[in-house]
Amino acid sequence: MNEIQLHDKHFELFISSEEILTKVAALAKKIEADYEGKEILFLSILNGSFMFTSDLLKNIQKQLEVSFIKVSSYSGTSTTGRVDELIGLATSITDKHIIVVEDIVDTGITIDKVITLLNASNPASISVCTFLYKPSAFKGNSVPQYVGFEIPNKFVVGYGLDYNQLGRNLAALYQLKETN
Ligand code: IMP
Repeated sequence: MNEIQLHDKHFELFISSEEILTKVAALAKKIEADYEGKEILFLSILNGSFMFTSDLLKNIQKQLEVSFIKVSSYSGTSTTGRVDELIGLATSITDKHIIVVEDIVDTGITIDKVITLLNASNPASISVCTFLYKPSAFKGNSVPQYVGFEIPNKFVVGYGLDYNQLGRNLAALYQLKETN
């Protein structure tokens, strides 16, 4: 499939499934080598990173833990403004080596929130592994240590990423066509 339509928008093939799987396997080997002798707790941020997390962890040949979390922002009191919280973090992260797994780091706002919230529980270390990174959109503090693909500032879908909830199941990555 070189072109697809989701809702009102047309997308064209950007990165094939084969290319993705080769890159994800290489990332897994790098993490394996960097964390030799250390136990890792992977924290995968839902919904977008489910497919990346699955392929990444299948390629890591060591004992590890994985947990799936969500970031939620709700209105606090008028003095606190909006409050961020992590949902689904059932296990203690204190003194653990954490790798946060993201589908995409765009502006970096989400990942900054996650790191701030996690740091409050004093983990041994935190790093970020993201399938995609848009450096030209990035305004955050936490530059990801492990990146699958650096991509231009264009909207993409597939391999977990959605356009209004569609497209997450696509095995390849598609980018928005200019002529929609
Ligand atoms: P950030 O907080 O701006 O870094 O954005 C992170 C979130 O925005 C990601 O986890 C995605 O859910 C969403 N996002 C950003 N860019 C794209 C894109 O190109 N396609 C689909 N979702 C995106």
